[in-house]
Amino acid sequence: MIRFTARNYARIAQAALTRRVPVYAHWGITHRCNLTCKMCGIWRYGDEKEELRPDEIHVMAAKMARLGVVQLSIGGGEPFASKNLETAVQAFIDQGLNLRVLTNGVPQGNGRNVVAGRAYLDRVDRCIDLGLKNFSISLDSLYPTRFDDICEVDGAWDDAVRTMTHIGQRLQGVSGAMPTINCVVSNLNLEELPDLVRFAGDIGFAVSFLPVELLADAKDGVRNWEARFIRYRPELGIGRGEGASQVRARIDRAYDRIIQLKADGAPILNSTPYLEASRMYLKTGRFPADGCDAGRLYFSVAPNGQFTICHRTVHQHLDFMDPGFEEYFHSALYEHRRMLEAASCEGCMRACWIDTSSMFRTMQGFFETARLTIRPRTARPLDFDQARQRWARTGDAPAPPSGDQDQANRAAG
Ligand SMILES: C[S@@+](CC[C@H](N)C(=O)[O-])C[C@H]1O[C@@H](n2cnc3c(N)ncnc32)[C@H](O)[C@@H]1O
Ligand code: SF4
Ligand code: SF4
Repeated sequence: MIRFTARNYARIAQAALTRRVPVYAHWGITHRCNLTCKMCGIWRYGDEKEELRPDEIHVMAAKMARLGVVQLSIGGGEPFASKNLETAVQAFIDQGLNLRVLTNGVPQGNGRNVVAGRAYLDRVDRCIDLGLKNFSISLDSLYPTRFDDICEVDGAWDDAVRTMTHIGQRLQGVSGAMPTINCVVSNLNLEELPDLVRFAGDIGFAVSFLPVELLADAKDGVRNWEARFIRYRPELGIGRGEGASQVRARIDRAYDRIIQLKADGAPILNSTPYLEASRMYLKTGRFPADGCDAGRLYFSVAPNGQFTICHRTVHQHLDFMDPGFEEYFHSALYEHRRMLEAASCEGCMRACWIDTSSMFRTMQGFFETARLTIRPRTARPLDFDQARQRWARTGDAPAPPSGDQDQANRAAG
């Protein structure tokens, strides 16, 4: 989500008029990761040798600023797996970009190792001291056992929540700070969404929901470049073992409640049009039909500097680090290729992409974004012990309906 600040209004206004300013960008600083989450396959492609050097990161930051990028998300993989993260934070902040770091919140080597846990929080603090105000941290359940199982690491829930509460307290009252929980909506947590919203509010966070994307069959990731990063996990698909009307009722119940919570002022980052589109996607498998602004309003850069119009596509564009990239980006050749790619894409549900478009296409999306980013935070966020005591669901999570291959097929298209 783009943040509204006085300095960036001009670029945002220009983007609203022309839809030709790439106000949002994503850079995967590394594909390496300390976790192997069930639905994600990015960590299989981690290779430190391919990643950009500190001097290249400074060049990239200056180039992004010249192109008009207002908001950059540094993701991965796991950004804290890169020793260059602090260099990058400094470089992008020096260039005046609004920065968000997407992290799993789990220390390298994991937080049950006290030294590793302290070292990780020291790095978080260093980033905040450098001026970083926005983190997105993944959390998909209030049941520690369920979340540890999704991440395939014992103690991941405690680690992630410890990091969140640390950040929530450090950023309390800081102007422009909006730490956010990234929650992947799946068969495992559909009934938990309203409580995840309340939990987020209690620790000083907002929440962003993204429907899970799954492969249709086990071999898809091997054949298909676009599908390398997601996995075949039918147990995460919504609805197996249920009738169609029961599935629709579960989805409606969950989305009715979070849309109402948002209307009541709860800190949900997604726009209402995006939440409605997610509901439709989960029920029918259809993506939003509004077209796509990939490569115009936003773009993506891989750890090795490869430029793509979004996270999914890989076509013959110039490398972002090539000295001629800016000229290429403004050329008719680029616009022609970009248009063909975006027009031939079946669609997706990535909140960062779709919500950026939605913000520039619908008045509702635009004003919701502006209202959310200027709302002050006043309540004292919970610390870790309070958050665990109030919100951690003890014991084993109730078994969800057993996952739906149809939804997996729909999600993978
Ligand atoms: C790829 S991770 C990178 C940042 C960091 N490692 C983290 O987990 O937050 C970014 C987000 O993508 C989500 N994600 C991973 N695989 C997904 C999938 N198959 N469908 C939807 N979201 C997915 C993660 O849960 C996370 O919130
Ligand atoms: S979702 Fe994030 S933490 Fe989990 S494996 Fe993927 S990159 Fe790593
Ligand atoms: S709709 Fe297609 S081209 Fe557009 S952001 Fe999604 S995957 Fe990329």
